Parts: sequence; structure tokens; C-alpha cells
Amino acid sequence: MEWFIVAVAAIVGAGVIGISWARLFGAAGWEVRVSDPRPDLQDVLDQHLAGLLVTASADLAEAAADADFVQESGPERISVKEEMFAILAAHTRDDVVLASSSSSLLPSVIAKGNPAADRMVIGHPFNPPELMPLVEVVPGPETSVRSVDRAMAVYQELGKVPIRLKKEIPGFVGNRLQKVLDDQATYLVQQGVIDVADLDDLVRAALGLRYATIGPFQSGVLGGGPEGMRHLVTHVASQMTFEIGEPDTAGMGRVLDEVEQTYGTGEAAYERLAELRDNRTRAVLRLLGWPEPPATADEGK
Ligand SMILES: NC(=O)c1ccc[n+]([C@@H]2O[C@H](COP(=O)([O-])OP(=O)(O)OC[C@H]3O[C@@H](n4cnc5c(N)ncnc54)[C@H](O)[C@@H]3O)[C@@H](O)[C@H]2O)c1
Repeated sequence: MEWFIVAVAAIVGAGVIGISWARLFGAAGWEVRVSDPRPDLQDVLDQHLAGLLVTASADLAEAAADADFVQESGPERISVKEEMFAILAAHTRDDVVLASSSSSLLPSVIAKGNPAADRMVIGHPFNPPELMPLVEVVPGPETSVRSVDRAMAVYQELGKVPIRLKKEIPGFVGNRLQKVLDDQATYLVQQGVIDVADLDDLVRAALGLRYATIGPFQSGVLGGGPEGMRHLVTHVASQMTFEIGEPDTAGMGRVLDEVEQTYGTGEAAYERLAELRDNRTRAVLRLLGWPEPPATADEGK
């Protein structure tokens, strides 16, 4: 008789990101314990994680007790993260990595004063974690090399493409790049240069397509022809000396109105857009040879 040891993942927070992580771990054969104080937790798991080995618990200490790996995806507020990680530190074995999905909070800040700081690391996914290959792995100054290695290995086992940053910085790398693009997109709409739908099309039909196949540096190499990026920098980029401006944060209302008019709001619009995104993402992943993500019954919800 053969015995299989099933690893246990504790998923903290059952929102957009936590549910997607839970499905990913579950589909990879992990037993999943999901903790969230939301009163409809069991209904959410029944709806989104049917057929997987998943249990719900409102009590974080209970959910963490047998965990071999923790993926925290609770609210992006430092006080809540500190509270959650204090409980996780006290109720997990001392070899268990405590990863946070945080989009921008520094690991050193989340881990400050926490006795398990050496086990804490950022494992930042892009939405939806099930489909997007990248996970940014960001150690804080106290994170042990062993914890980073273990997080990298777990994400690889899930079919992800983890990239380890050399050191922490607010927003990490992905969201710093995204912030520049989003700020400029808002600025251009506010300035009346382009409308929301055309801006999205412009990115999809040019920058997005390019960056799905080659990164910005590789693009620079090709943009310069046989003489490479050095030529591009000297002859083209050197002329781009204009100021790029900044969006008016007080004037976001008009931009948000236009976004809502363009794409709609509410459950039906969300489901339609999520399905479109997921179908397109799967098609691109397949063509580019990224690891096949697990098939899911209700992708995008
Ligand atoms: N939404 C994104 O695109 C995205 C992408 C990458 C990373 N992230 C990060 O992932 C994390 C979760 O984001 P989200 O968009 O899923 O948020 P969300 O608001 O959809 O979900 C957060 C969940 O945490 C739960 N929660 C509240 N207090 C809790 C507690 N004490 N213990 C356990 N659960 C608790 C809430 O009930 C909610 O279900 C954040 O840190 C965010 O920065 C988000």
C-alpha cells in the first residue's frame, strides 16, 4: 500500500486573490485551509472551489495550525497585516514560510517586531494568480535565504514563474512599472488627448502585445536595429526630452465616470469582462508556451 503525504496550504483571506490562490493550490493537489471572517465564507468556497480538498475556518489560528505553507491575501492595510502575521507566527511550525500577496507593502514593515520575521516573504502575484505566470518574491532584510528558496520552490511547483528581487522597494518592480503607465494613462485622458477605450486599445495593440513577447530592454535592442539599444538610446530616446506631467488625483471622478460608461459596472459586467480576459490570457499563454494553468469551472469570478 502506498502512502501519499498531502501538503497543507493555509490561505488567509478569501477575496479576489485568496480564492484564486486557493484554487491554484487545490488544483496542484494541496489540501487547502481558507480563513476569512466573512460570514458567507462556506458559500464562497462551495461556489468557487467545489471538488477540491478545501476547508473553511473563520479562526486564523485554527486554519494555520497544520499548514506547510501560508499565502496571506487579506486586506492591504498594514495594521491588519501585522495582526494576521502575529497570529500566523504564533500558530505555525518554525519551518513554515509565511508569504504575503501584498501589492506594495514592504516586507520589513509587515515583519517589524514579528518573531517569525525570518520566515516572512512577499509572494506578489498578478491578478488572477491562477493564470498570470509571474510571482514576485521579495525578501525583507530579516528573511532567511531558506525561506526565499522554499517560496521559490513552492511557486515553481504550482507552475508559476517566480522572480526573486535582490532587495525590497515599495511597490516592488511590477507595480512600480504599472504605476507609471496607469498615471500617464489617467493624465492623457484628463488632458483630453485620448478617451478611455482608445487608450486601452492602444496598449493592447502595441505595448501590451510587445511586452507579452519581449521585455522593454529586449525591445530596445531590436528598436536600434543591428547596432542595438545603444543606437536607439543615442538617436531616438535622446530626443524624448519632454515633461510627461502628472495626473490630477482630485480629478479622478471624471475619469472613473468614463471608465464606467465604457465598460459598465456590477456583477454581470464583471463576469463578462473577466471571462474575456481569462479566455484571451489562456490563448496567449498557450501560444507563448507558458505552463498550462489549471482548468477551472468558474474562472474570473
Ligand atoms: N486585487 C488585485 O489585483 C491584487 C493583485 C495582487 C496582489 N493583491 C494583494 O492581495 C491582497 C488581497 O487583495 P484582494 O484584492 O483579494 O482583496 P479583497 O478585498 O478582495 O479580499 C480581502 C479579503 O480579506 C478578508 N479579511 C479581512 N480581514 C481578515 C482577517 N483578519 N483574516 C483573514 N481574512 C481577512 C476580507 O473579508 C476579504 O475577503 C492584498 O494584499 C492586495 O494588495 C491584490
